[in-house]
Amino acid sequence: MAANNPFADPARYESGTPDCAVVIFGASGDLTRRKLMPALYRLMYEGRLSPNFAVIGVSRSPLSDDAFRSRMEEGVRRHLEDAPFDEDIWRSFAEGVFYMAGDIHDRDSYQRLRSLLARIGDTRQTAGNVLFYLSTQPGQYAPVADGLGEAGLARTNGWRRLVVEKPFGHDLASARELSARLQRHFPEQEVYRIDHYLGKETVQNILAFRFGNGIFEPLWNRRYIDHVQITAAESIGVEGRGGYYEDAGALRDMIQNHLLQVMATVTMEPSATFEPDAVRDERAKLLRSIRVFEPGEVAEHAVAGQYGPARIGGADVPGYREEPDVRPDSQTDTYAAVTFFVDNWRWAGVPFYVRTGKQLPRRVTEIAIQFRDAPHRVFGQAGHLPPDLLILRIQPEEGISLKFVSKKPGTGMQLRPVSMDFNYGSSFGERSPSAYETLLLDAIRGDATLYTRQDMVEASWRVVEPIVKHWAGETFDFPNYAAGTWGPAAADRMLARRGHAWRRM
Ligand code: BG6
Repeated sequence: MAANNPFADPARYESGTPDCAVVIFGASGDLTRRKLMPALYRLMYEGRLSPNFAVIGVSRSPLSDDAFRSRMEEGVRRHLEDAPFDEDIWRSFAEGVFYMAGDIHDRDSYQRLRSLLARIGDTRQTAGNVLFYLSTQPGQYAPVADGLGEAGLARTNGWRRLVVEKPFGHDLASARELSARLQRHFPEQEVYRIDHYLGKETVQNILAFRFGNGIFEPLWNRRYIDHVQITAAESIGVEGRGGYYEDAGALRDMIQNHLLQVMATVTMEPSATFEPDAVRDERAKLLRSIRVFEPGEVAEHAVAGQYGPARIGGADVPGYREEPDVRPDSQTDTYAAVTFFVDNWRWAGVPFYVRTGKQLPRRVTEIAIQFRDAPHRVFGQAGHLPPDLLILRIQPEEGISLKFVSKKPGTGMQLRPVSMDFNYGSSFGERSPSAYETLLLDAIRGDATLYTRQDMVEASWRVVEPIVKHWAGETFDFPNYAAGTWGPAAADRMLARRGHAWRRM
């Protein structure tokens, strides 16, 4: 530990986390304040980082270290979800926080960064290990990698890793091109493409649930599962991100990355070990098995929506087209629903209905697995009994519920639905780390299990690209759902055609 590092007692720290510096490009952005700094502070608070640790924020605007620290303090205090803020720990943490004003397109910035890293490496004893975190505009990812590479910052003593935020490309060709640019300087195994959904405890728990227990996996296939619904509903709008969102849309923003990864986690084959590439190979294989629609098949399998204005709880909610930086005739999807199929032995013919949207009635992300009906109605029930359902709740109220029918007390044989519930909060009674805590720590430790690989990103783009292209050629009659409702009627019709309906939440 550095002699002048005042950071508390070494006994507080878990061993095994390497000394390192984290350099954040795009440090004045929202992500740094809301997610990255709170996560790093929290890891430090819990003693999970090495005390020989430093963070360097890089951004355009001139700012002193102290001014940057106080901005970050304000962000951490504000966004430290369900965790206490400790003044002393912050003060020690902040001593390892630095700032450098730099222009990403200027070579001189990388030379200055090099000197700064050398100096901080000495004073904080970070052992030459550096995690570069790209949180800039996506168009700057490749120039930053080039700048780092040309300044000799991509490979020296110690390890060098590159964490890349989403979006990773805006289609298959641009994703490929970006990988090739990054790999000029950083080998693929040092490129960590972040998908924060994979860092969520409840998404990781899907693997524990499926492969840590012997009882569910035998049922986990087309013989017993009728269909699966994956919902990621948000009650917020675009929150001032209209500029970004106009070129993204719900399909690219949520389905291409987060929800296809969630779907792969639900459907992949068990890996033989929990080694990063063993797990990632299975995910990649699954993503490659998702059916890629022909242009003529898209209309039947995908629905786009955009919210319009509404009055909710006495307040006027603007429509998407009224949001800042949004075109008044925007054709961008704020809602997307797709019926996917996994063309393999296990899942042939099982529909996977995936939907996401902004300004829906509530925030909920869940996976609902609907089992096939009992083959014979031995109780002669009139009408239809509700199906057996397994609900994996990702957020909020993280947990798992199994819904099945049971005998109603009393004479005669009346059946009614009941629920068996596991609730994360009450079962473990402890705070779950945020996705960014998990993922940052993994990257620092060199564990890429929860990061996406080039082949996975490409497979996901291959799946969504026909939909993106088809929609680009359409003129939608937007808005087609009011803010505060569950999306366009066409999404209901898409399921009704197969005799299904979206779960009511
Ligand atoms: C981001 C999207 O990746 O995920 C946002 O860009 C979205 O539009 C967010 O709101 C949702 O993440 P979470 O963790 O709040 O479900």
